[in-house]
Amino acid sequence: MCGIIGIVGTHPVASRLIESLKRLEYRGYDSAGVAAFSGRHVERRRALGKIKALEAVLDAHPLIGNVGIGHTRWATHGAPSEANAHPHTAGRVTVVHNGIIENYAELRSALQAKGRAFESQTDTEVLAHLIDEALDQGLVPLAALKASLDQVTGAYALAILIAGEDKLILGARHGSPLVVGYGAGEMYLGSDALAVGPFTNKVTYLEEGDYLAIDHDQAFIFDKTGNPVERPVTVVPDSAALVEKGNYRHFMEKEIHDQPEGCQRTISAYVDAIGLTTRFQGDIDLAKLERIQIVACGSAHIAGLIGKYLIERLADLPVDIDVASEFRYREPALRPGTLVLAISQSGETADTIAALRYCQARGMVSAAIINAPESTMAREVDVVWPIHCGPEIGVASTKAFTAQVSVLIALAVAAARARGRIDEAEEARMVRLLLEAPRLIGESIELEDAIKTIAIDVAQARDVLFLGRGPMSALALEGALKLKEISYIHAEGYAAGELKHGPIALVEPATPVVILAPSDSYYEKSASNMNEVIARGGPVIFITDPKGAQHAPAGAKVVVTAPASDPLIAALVFAAPIQLLAYHVAVLKGADVDQPRNLAKSVTVE
Ligand code: G6P
Repeated sequence: MCGIIGIVGTHPVASRLIESLKRLEYRGYDSAGVAAFSGRHVERRRALGKIKALEAVLDAHPLIGNVGIGHTRWATHGAPSEANAHPHTAGRVTVVHNGIIENYAELRSALQAKGRAFESQTDTEVLAHLIDEALDQGLVPLAALKASLDQVTGAYALAILIAGEDKLILGARHGSPLVVGYGAGEMYLGSDALAVGPFTNKVTYLEEGDYLAIDHDQAFIFDKTGNPVERPVTVVPDSAALVEKGNYRHFMEKEIHDQPEGCQRTISAYVDAIGLTTRFQGDIDLAKLERIQIVACGSAHIAGLIGKYLIERLADLPVDIDVASEFRYREPALRPGTLVLAISQSGETADTIAALRYCQARGMVSAAIINAPESTMAREVDVVWPIHCGPEIGVASTKAFTAQVSVLIALAVAAARARGRIDEAEEARMVRLLLEAPRLIGESIELEDAIKTIAIDVAQARDVLFLGRGPMSALALEGALKLKEISYIHAEGYAAGELKHGPIALVEPATPVVILAPSDSYYEKSASNMNEVIARGGPVIFITDPKGAQHAPAGAKVVVTAPASDPLIAALVFAAPIQLLAYHVAVLKGADVDQPRNLAKSVTVE
């Protein structure tokens, strides 16, 4: 978690550090800080809370330097506070850090035994002390950095100022991403291309173990063994423009509305719209696979659950799915012929990366459905299946989720065809359905006004249940996750058949029950569950399609009629109503939609 930025600039950097930090706020936002040279000394400004609080501090106490670093934090070690906010300083060294230094406790004790005093509870501060101590021993800055990195275990992306070296920023990457940006007489370091997007679209993605120094003109990069290396420079397309909110109030609202386009771009990459076939790049023979093991977290995991339903049903290919944080600790029984498939918007989620590496170490072929093409996962897997929805900024995933589901539907069709479960004509029919999905998602988004009205009641609730069957049971989980993460209302998603095994005890007039039931083969059973809720006085919000609405049980309080869609793509069409419900409830409650409390978009720690 956390976002970092560094600028070796030709003019004062404080306002530009802030601009970058605002772009990085999706990585964490409980406190923030900047540091810049003032002469040959380094000055810091830090504040508890969001970047706005730091801006106020800078207004009162400006920083004038041309070379500086900044950080937005998601607390791991040490509560959010000004003292624990980065940058951390020890002697001549000032550090910002994304990641976790796992052996910080022993390093800290050893440093304290040598008389070094600590100001924070963070793991990061040990790095500042280690580097300062190495400088004390007479090492030059890069050697001092390397000597310090050799002592730490864990993950880090770092940007470092050293008093007296006022034309340099040092950096390092291990387990957390870091990019170098190239400007005109200026150089940058940032957590990602978005961070340096306002200044340049020319970037280098550092490799694991790289450490470096940047000055005004160049980057001096060394690999983990200390050898100087050249890394390629990439031009990032339109990075600056892609992350504006436009006329929307929140990124989440914009991203919900971006979905028809995001899915359309994604689907186009996996189907041939003229030949009406699916196409998957890479050397993975879907016909020969014995099994797929999906690993993912959060909404990406829920996308995977929908994928499992479709891949098993259409392609008769067994799919296991685990939340990545559990996977490697449960000692899974892996078999040859299994493809490990990571699903991740960011490509940087620590648990998903660890699960992938666990499988790769056991000889498994790997693929990843990813939004960030230069991410750690994208670099480490055998095959990348990108989504094309553009950067997602709102912490609650929306357009990345539907784009992931789009790829998984295409994969189910491709696997079904490759394994002889469907013929050419059936593949063509399914491809046509996929190509229709963006339009239907658009129609589904048009339900927004109706959903705004429903949100007024839901916003009063303490608990909300989401129920569905088949792929809709996974979407029920997503509905509950979206609602709880941005509106802080307790919500649970259940396979509707499980209603009688527990959640029905929660049903009462004050507990809205959202039932997702298109008119598919599960409809009758979902309708029975709905009647069970109605019989107990539970207010039902019934999300269905026109045919389902005709047969809606009499007591369904509210019926939302989504466009008719084939079961193959229904999860895409039914996603928007639940996303919009969560969004409008959160807006009504005055919650911070794009940056809900305690969460971060990119969870780069275990
Ligand atoms: C966080 C985000 C979620 C996301 C999950 C997995 O919890 O808030 O929106 O689904 O991480 O992230 P990934 O980048 O791996 O998809």
